[in-house]
Amino acid sequence: MTVCEYKPGLEGIPAAQSSVSYVDGQQGILQYRGIRIEELAEKSTFLETSYLLIWGTLPTKEELEAFEHEIRYHRRIKYRIRDMMKCFPESGHPMDALQASAAALGLFYSRRDLDNPAYIRAAVVRLLAKIPTMVAAFQLMRKGNDPVQPRDDLGYSANFLYMLNEREPDPLAARIFDVCLTLHAEHTMNASTFSARVTASTLTDPYAVMASAVGTLGGPLHGGANEEVIAMLEEIGSVENVRPYLEDRLERKAKIMGFGHRVYKVKDPRATILQNLAEQLFEKFGRDKYYDIAVELERAVEEKLAHKGIYPNVDFYSGLVYSKMGIPTDLFTPIFAIARVAGWLAHWKEQLEENRIYRPTQVYTGLHEAAYIPIEER
Ligand code: SDX
Repeated sequence: MTVCEYKPGLEGIPAAQSSVSYVDGQQGILQYRGIRIEELAEKSTFLETSYLLIWGTLPTKEELEAFEHEIRYHRRIKYRIRDMMKCFPESGHPMDALQASAAALGLFYSRRDLDNPAYIRAAVVRLLAKIPTMVAAFQLMRKGNDPVQPRDDLGYSANFLYMLNEREPDPLAARIFDVCLTLHAEHTMNASTFSARVTASTLTDPYAVMASAVGTLGGPLHGGANEEVIAMLEEIGSVENVRPYLEDRLERKAKIMGFGHRVYKVKDPRATILQNLAEQLFEKFGRDKYYDIAVELERAVEEKLAHKGIYPNVDFYSGLVYSKMGIPTDLFTPIFAIARVAGWLAHWKEQLEENRIYRPTQVYTGLHEAAYIPIEER
């Protein structure tokens, strides 16, 4: 067996063979099953894109209608899961609530029948359908309200916003939210997808796979950055304070949240699309001062860090879109998770076809033949 050179964070090391998505970090290209993200953002919906990612082809009209019908039918969550969530502390982070409730789904469905396509499809539908309901339910319960039931007459994204805010969303906001889900659905071998594949490779149940991926996504260097971006823009407070703030952060070698990427060395194409979506919202619902700060910060960071290939990533503008929709900042990462379930499921299926457990090696840097020292002599 040839042993590759150790690379911290596995930088540049292929950890899987996959046909789900493709990124060219130099050109700023992202493709889902070969289709450019810009085209899917403009012409597709999140559910149609999820179907494409998971089953590898765009669905026919009948296939999409059947898929949407199944999703609508499975949106409700069992009262036992709701009762379990009622015991979660209101102060708990929604990502922890999501991770616990995603794992809990595994208690209700047969552990493993991974060779059965019907079991695979049922798990895909249940997770895509129920995870938004669980995020919305916890949000209402921690505000002391009873969760509302999903509405069959609303589409996937409109229904989530309805369950979250207890009122029908503006059609433009629902459409823009749906595009945000498409933009966040998949992104090759990011940390949470890698977690999903490692967990899937042990042939455990898909609910445990999702819980593993949700836990990984929550970190501030990964999916948690969008929440940090808003806190950073609020801390900057004004366009005039952008450059002094940036100088201070760089002097302290502190990372600027929402910037930089292991793969993109140009502006993340998703950031460009999200910026356009933000401007559409501001045109309809009024401009946001934090957007002006963000645009000035992007300009200042480019002056200082473009030579390092540091540009805005997907998390830089997403928070401004969600904030304009009245979504609280600690729901930004759970929303990222709602979208990324599609990509995690696509990689879960692909890993089952690969059917080889992850077991990398290591570079040992410890002692050999060390003596055991009795406690009296230590
Ligand atoms: C996501 O992998 C994916 O695809 C992820 C994602 C997805 O869709 O799944 O795209 C979503 O996670 C986006 C990233 C969200 N995270 C953040 O915005 C947090 C801030 N960004 C950084 O932590 C960082 O850019 C990472 C973690 C995203 C990437 O880090 P790398 O590739 O490990 O880069 P590095 O830490 O080795 O830094 C290389 C150089 C360093 O400078 P030097 O020490 O060489 O002088 O670039 C600098 C870093 O200091 N640098 C930054 C920076 N990111 C890198 N400097 C300031 N601010 C930053 N944000």
